[in-house]
Amino acid sequence: MRAIIAWILLLPSALLAAETGEKLFQTHCAPCHGPKGEGGRGANLAVRKLPRAPDDAALAAIIATGIPGTQMPATRMTAEESAQLVRFVRSLGKSQSAAVPGDRANGEKLFWSKGNCGQCHTVGARGGHIGPDLTDVGARRGPAYLRTSILQPEADIPENFASYRKLIYMPDNYLRVHAVTQDGKEITGERVDEDTFTIQIRDDQDHLFSFRKDELRELRKDWGKSPMPSYQGVFSAQELQDVIAWLASLQGAL
Ligand code: HEC
Ligand code: HEC
Repeated sequence: MRAIIAWILLLPSALLAAETGEKLFQTHCAPCHGPKGEGGRGANLAVRKLPRAPDDAALAAIIATGIPGTQMPATRMTAEESAQLVRFVRSLGKSQSAAVPGDRANGEKLFWSKGNCGQCHTVGARGGHIGPDLTDVGARRGPAYLRTSILQPEADIPENFASYRKLIYMPDNYLRVHAVTQDGKEITGERVDEDTFTIQIRDDQDHLFSFRKDELRELRKDWGKSPMPSYQGVFSAQELQDVIAWLASLQGAL
């Protein structure tokens, strides 16, 4: 009898805790990580092992401080809320989402052939350096985000973000720049690095240039422009699905 009363008393608070964890997640995390943690702009959290959060303390620390140099922000909350959120995030991993449908082997083939994606992206030891390394893109990004990246590469570089990015250096910020030297030579490419006096640019043929800014006649920065072409209409629906299935399976060296 006592046990039953205790159970009745505990039940609502246990339910409440689960509900609050989920609510906190929907408010603070779902916009980037998806309502089920399946990933989007943010990493897929519905996995058994989170590479950056091997235990609950590490997960709580990531929530509190974010991941510097990435889009993962710090979120302010009480210790109790944080504990509930940690529990909820862990529960996402247990209901491990099914693999993304599609023919991965065919997706891999299309990536290197028809898509010529390897001209700009590295996977493992192979590929170019104009775009981000995709070796672990399946761990960092969800399928919906991958689809948008391929069809509308500029979708995730919104205007309002551009001015923010002028102030804060972000490694995943691929800034298009156009430079004209004193003798009229034009270089268009990615900004690799920049300080007050110099800038390093990688052009679309993967050549690296370094300039003193006072030696340049013109230096234009195209915030919000991506060198990645849209693949709208290049792949059939099935081919696109295959490419996404392969990308989603790339989990890095785990
Ligand atoms: C503005 C978008 C954004 C929001 C909001 C956000 N995240 Fe993230 N999160 C990211 C991105 C992007 C990454 C991947 C960072 C990287 O490695 O490049 C990330 C990574 C993570 C990771 C690391 C996963 C790993 O690799 O182990 C965890 C854990 C995480 N987020 C949890 C949360 C939680 C919990 C919340 C809500 C409190 C949250 N995030 C809110 C964008 C976001
Ligand atoms: C001309 C170079 C170029 C080609 C070709 C190219 N990309 Fe990209 N890609 C980039 C650059 C630069 C970025 C980063 C800026 C952005 O998000 O648009 C990027 C971003 C991405 C992202 C987002 C990565 C992340 O972590 O946010 C994915 C996914 C991607 N590309 C997949 C592909 C696939 C698949 C193909 C072939 C079908 C392809 N790309 C072809 C240059 C290229």
